[in-house]
Amino acid sequence: MTPDHLDSLLAEQVAYYRARAHEYDATHAFEAASRAKLLAALRAFSPRGRVLELACGTGQWTAELAMHASLLTAVDASPEMIALNRARVPSDNVHYVEADLFAWSAAERYDVVFFSTWLSHVPPQRFEGFWALVGECLKENGRVFFIDELPAVAAHERWIAGAIAPLVERPLTTGERYRAIKVLYDPAELGARLSELGWLADIRTVSWRLFYATVERAPTG
Ligand SMILES: C[S@@+](CC[C@H](N)C(=O)[O-])C[C@H]1O[C@@H](n2cnc3c(N)ncnc32)[C@H](O)[C@@H]1O
Repeated sequence: MTPDHLDSLLAEQVAYYRARAHEYDATHAFEAASRAKLLAALRAFSPRGRVLELACGTGQWTAELAMHASLLTAVDASPEMIALNRARVPSDNVHYVEADLFAWSAAERYDVVFFSTWLSHVPPQRFEGFWALVGECLKENGRVFFIDELPAVAAHERWIAGAIAPLVERPLTTGERYRAIKVLYDPAELGARLSELGWLADIRTVSWRLFYATVERAPTG
């Protein structure tokens, strides 16, 4: 398969979230206990200063981030997601950017980069490039907080065999079906992978389904 094929899957992933935007909140909510643990961890992390949220979606985390940040930049490829996010988050310190994260670079550096259930949508072939982008977005002492799903979630997905990257089929409530990349990381392996790229990650599970990670550049020398 050619790299073009990966690009077309990534385009389908954007189309999927554009079509799903209006049903996203009804079909994607963490159970209350996990959400409470993640919120407590995020508040303890304190995402202050200039904050960048990647793949912000409908704003399930944007409002919380906006309460801590002096200025929050929220990026997403879906104008539908951004419109819902804007309507949900009444803060005037939030700046929205509609962009494809695989073709975007930041115009400034941030104190914090945050993303939730995004890394698992980054194909393995783009893992290194994505973390290079995170590094370019961060100030020298910048910090990362991210949330994602654990391998146990695999049992709840419909997998498509033989694809160029781990791929799942996702139906909408309308019956339409889309394909999305889904890479589920074992926390220890993910930590080791990030360490190879020069990051120091502290990864904590909050349930069978979810983990969060705080990440910073590993000290050199
Ligand atoms: C699983 S949702 C997560 C949304 C939000 N972070 C949350 O936790 O609710 C994935 C998000 O990634 C966005 N997305 C998909 N492909 C993208 C791309 N190439 N560039 C930027 N955003 C993308 C979708 O529009 C969607 O809002």
